[in-house]
Amino acid sequence: MILVLDFGSQYNQLITRRIREFGVYSELHPHTLSIEDIKKMNPKGIILSGGPNSVYDEKSFRCDERIFELGVPVLGICYGMQLMTYLLGGKVEKAKHREYGKAALQVKEKSPLFEGLPDDQIVWMSHGDLVADIPNGFKVDATSPSCPFAAISNDERNMYGVQFHPEVRHTEFGNDLLKNFVFRICGCTNSWTMENFIEMQIENIRKTVGNKKVLCALSGGVDSSVVAVLIHKAIGNQLTCIFVDHGLLRKGEAESVMKTFSEGFNMNVIKVDAKDRFLEKLKGVTDPEKKRKIIGNEFIYVFDDEAAKLEGIEFLAQGTLYTDIIESGTQTAQTIKSHHNVGGLPEDMKFQLIEPLNTLFKDEVRALGTELGIPDEIVWRQPFPGPGLAIRVLGEVTEEKLEIVRESDAILREEIKKAGLERDIWQYFTVLPNIRSVGVMGDARTYDHTIGIRAVTSIDGMTSDWARIPWEVLEVISTRIVNEVPHVNRVVYDITSKPPATIEWE
Ligand code: XMP
Repeated sequence: MILVLDFGSQYNQLITRRIREFGVYSELHPHTLSIEDIKKMNPKGIILSGGPNSVYDEKSFRCDERIFELGVPVLGICYGMQLMTYLLGGKVEKAKHREYGKAALQVKEKSPLFEGLPDDQIVWMSHGDLVADIPNGFKVDATSPSCPFAAISNDERNMYGVQFHPEVRHTEFGNDLLKNFVFRICGCTNSWTMENFIEMQIENIRKTVGNKKVLCALSGGVDSSVVAVLIHKAIGNQLTCIFVDHGLLRKGEAESVMKTFSEGFNMNVIKVDAKDRFLEKLKGVTDPEKKRKIIGNEFIYVFDDEAAKLEGIEFLAQGTLYTDIIESGTQTAQTIKSHHNVGGLPEDMKFQLIEPLNTLFKDEVRALGTELGIPDEIVWRQPFPGPGLAIRVLGEVTEEKLEIVRESDAILREEIKKAGLERDIWQYFTVLPNIRSVGVMGDARTYDHTIGIRAVTSIDGMTSDWARIPWEVLEVISTRIVNEVPHVNRVVYDITSKPPATIEWE
């Protein structure tokens, strides 16, 4: 395992990612991690990440200096290198010119970090301070025009520092350099696979849970599905899942969830049919935010009611991901976004949490799901909002309107799949804008609903562009919707990006 200590750089997740891509397990932890915890982890190497501080700031991030006495190889990157220099008796100072972007690196001494790499290479810098004098026992391995100590090392003590960022793609041989550290210097082997991960987690879950019982809210989304299957693999029917069908799911979704998990995986899933309860609460409500709130609260009430009927549950399983943990802030993170997976679960529910995915990134969760035998339509499911179709029926939600969205959405999904565009388009769905217009069908005048198609490309949902679906595919979708879905006489395509629009219409 390679331990990455986080000093707040925006690239620190990337370091962990790169190392995992090499097949070596790596974790990112706050720089405040205690020396006892570090020893317990028994890492084969430690990387000190970059960060926005200056080592001379009063409040600058530090780590326990004793990490340098562990006999474990250390690589300091940018601020990490400056901190190492400072703590070991070297000197750091403000650079005359802050340096951002590409720089030409010249390797002077081939330390094991640069083994097999060319002497001249392009690296990516981003720093305001730099090392002005190296600690005793260190030597200079590389320089750049504005940075006389661009790479330093103490081979004897297995300590290395680079002023540039090997984890970003713009650093030409960054991956090779990290590989040198991980394999050559730390002696890791590339044996971290999803199979190992599953074994490790199963053992952990069994140890934590013992013969107690676990509860899990299953939504049919990828994270909760993977958690449920993983835990079930570890403890079988000591796991109970609650699946709340709020009647706002897509066509066939509730059935498919039950079929997959209850029948396919033989799991203990309680399906709560709460459609009437939700529709009743939504009656007459037109404000989008109010609709969201009502659905969120009702979900918790329903879950609560069901959980209260069960006895002897001590653990609650959650599909929290690594990014949720990192983003919701170690003391280090610069951007802080709170995550709330089971937001608002009542405090008197005295569950202990288990979160077996909390060291994984989204794509790793997908790989894990596939390894666990979860079908592709769940592993690769497009994002689906918690309030479901209720925010795709604009204005008041009724069963009739839901039916129109459900049926048109099913046609859209079918045709996108047929056209092989599923993985190219990030999210695609239909909305009912709640307007009527005049049309003609057969020889008769109609006055009926319009359906809007929304299909976007995106990376994280924060921004998006409208998907360029081929005309022919759109044509088939439009014709089928008008012909097959009662009360629709017009189909429009939403060609707005986000911003200024949002992906959902409400
Ligand atoms: P917007 O509409 O804000 O959506 O551009 C961005 C992404 O978030 C999803 N979304 C939600 N997900 N609860 C959720 O779990 C919500 O209330 C919610 N609202 C929007 C949306 O589907 C898109 O992927």
